[in-house]
Amino acid sequence: MSDKPLAASLAGQNHAETLGSGKTLDLVNRRQAHLGGSILFYKEPAHIVRGEGVWLYDKADKRYLDCYNNVASVGHCHPRVVAALSKQASTLNTHTRYLHENVINYTEHLASTFPGDLEVVILTCTGSEANDLAMQLARMVSGNNGAVVLENAYHGNTTLIAQMSTCMGSADSRPDFLEAIEPPNAYRGPFRAVQGLSNEELGDKYAGLVDNAIKKLEDKGQGVAAFMCDAVFDTQGSLEAPKNYFKQVYKKIRAAGGLCIADEVQAGFCRTGKMWGFEHFDVVPDIVTLGKPMAAGHPVAGLVTTRAIADEFAKRAFYFNTFSGNPVSTLVGDTVLSIMQEDKLTENCAHVSVYLKQKLEQLQAKHTLIGNVRGLGMFIGIELVKDHETLEPATNEALALAELMKREGVLIGATGRFGNVIKVRPPLVFSNDNADLLVEKLDKLLTEISQ
Ligand SMILES: Cc1ncc(COP(=O)(O)O)c(C=O)c1O
Repeated sequence: MSDKPLAASLAGQNHAETLGSGKTLDLVNRRQAHLGGSILFYKEPAHIVRGEGVWLYDKADKRYLDCYNNVASVGHCHPRVVAALSKQASTLNTHTRYLHENVINYTEHLASTFPGDLEVVILTCTGSEANDLAMQLARMVSGNNGAVVLENAYHGNTTLIAQMSTCMGSADSRPDFLEAIEPPNAYRGPFRAVQGLSNEELGDKYAGLVDNAIKKLEDKGQGVAAFMCDAVFDTQGSLEAPKNYFKQVYKKIRAAGGLCIADEVQAGFCRTGKMWGFEHFDVVPDIVTLGKPMAAGHPVAGLVTTRAIADEFAKRAFYFNTFSGNPVSTLVGDTVLSIMQEDKLTENCAHVSVYLKQKLEQLQAKHTLIGNVRGLGMFIGIELVKDHETLEPATNEALALAELMKREGVLIGATGRFGNVIKVRPPLVFSNDNADLLVEKLDKLLTEISQ
């Protein structure tokens, strides 16, 4: 869940006030009448009808630079994806109980991108299911029940994973099996760079928080089954963990008998300038969960683990999912992965993100509203604050900026614990020219907002 604060601010919104009357309001009303649980972004919802590359087009053919969508990761309506999908859909689509080459080709291909012993793929339809299954594996293999996650995390919507998604629900109603620690936020967390702490010291201090969580789980008789973490810290406002953070946390979790689950639903597939987010931190997880950018909007997700863990699970349980691994989805996933590799999208993210961050830092020097610019690769957070000493979050300004940027033809989001972090997470094919346009519009609107 990516833009919870933005979505929450829009929940219960009276669209009639902003839309007056007419066709858009009609559509919104029809949507609300029969579609449950789905909130629209923007006071005047975007009525998008077409996409191409990094561009989205609305009903009136207005063009928007998409700086928000990680699902259409290789670009909207990529012709190779569309061709593969159409061809396979007109040939065969069924469940996975028959032999079919597509699922074999895809899982071989996907497994080849992972380091270490990570070689067995289990496919699901959503990231939530992948995380749920990862927890089942971790509990079975470790013999423990407890989990350590971070504060303000989002990992999905199944009953178990919603409990582990600490950005939802209150800390008082957490189940016994769960302990949450503060994310490594060197800008506004309990340990800060301004305190003169080095990157290594910050890593030590934040990783040290896991000791208490482990002790609490052990005292409660839960033990530690797993540590689950998103390496780009999406809902925490896009953080860059200190280099030694994960290494130390993994060591402590494994010493307590737990497994390390890297939730790569946001961080995975090139975005951070490496294929996998965890590769920035010199660690190899026990289980990696995947989703969002995996198949250009087609519902493909899954996990990758070791043969030993997969076999241990298979001895005592089995996993069946009607839709996952079907011939169409797996061909789409395989095609997306080939495009990522052949078009060198990891390298593109690495290069463009350096360029964009430089530009954003120049913007930071000009606009006092910007407190911090950070993020791994093309997952960038721009934290807006009212005061550089107190770090009072500029939440309304962030929400207003997202609305105004849409008016200017650029789609962004607002995230973080206070909803004051502008989230930039465009398709992976984003270019320096696109970055220039984004920065130009931000510059213009930050000036407008501060007047
Ligand atoms: C880090 C992370 N993990 C898991 C999920 C859940 O994925 P899905 O919505 O496909 O169930 C999300 C969704 O936003 C996410 O951001």
